[in-house]
Amino acid sequence: MSKLKIAVLISGRGSNLKALIEQASEPNFPAEIALVITNKKDAGGIAHAEKAGIPYVFLDHKAFTNRHDFDMAMHAELLTRGIDFVFLAGFMRVLSKEFVAKWHDKLVNIHPSLLPAFPGVDTHERALVTGVKFHGCTVHFVREEVDAGPIITQEILKVEDKDTPETLAARLLPLEHKAYKHTLRLIAEKRYLVKGNRVETWD
Ligand code: GRF
Repeated sequence: MSKLKIAVLISGRGSNLKALIEQASEPNFPAEIALVITNKKDAGGIAHAEKAGIPYVFLDHKAFTNRHDFDMAMHAELLTRGIDFVFLAGFMRVLSKEFVAKWHDKLVNIHPSLLPAFPGVDTHERALVTGVKFHGCTVHFVREEVDAGPIITQEILKVEDKDTPETLAARLLPLEHKAYKHTLRLIAEKRYLVKGNRVETWD
């Protein structure tokens, strides 16, 4: 049986991309990372794609006159490569509603907070300022509203008195990798069902 073809969109260091590559490299895993797209020419994550022999494409958003045209260029690239499913992994561009609609229930994002708390940027700072005792990360299907959409999985982290935004980020990162690997497994093995705003998953 042919493998589910996954594309990963990145803008930066790509540690979540690396985790996804590791997961997909398990023997007989039913999905492959078939394409990486970056909007940053110097994204550190490109090295992970190169090392794994995964094709990557650089699309400069600044070369397009508007968001829609950039997104449609990405969409065309995804279709050309026969991509079935897209993972956002530190992709620092808001996606147009047309793109999100074309990839409905086939597009996931990882966000460094326990959504719906702290959508947007600076999540660790905001968690500390707000005084929450638990922080974490969320993997969700992408909808038009930024950092919203049916939640697939979350990982939690206890906030310590001595935590800083940097220590929170550092302690959360391995949990992000765990959550994204788990998500890739659920999707590759088709062990999920989206029911309205809820996602059912099973062993
Ligand atoms: C992660 O914290 C992720 O949750 C957020 O952007 C960061 C990307 O990190 N969306 P990396 O590039 O995967 O290392």
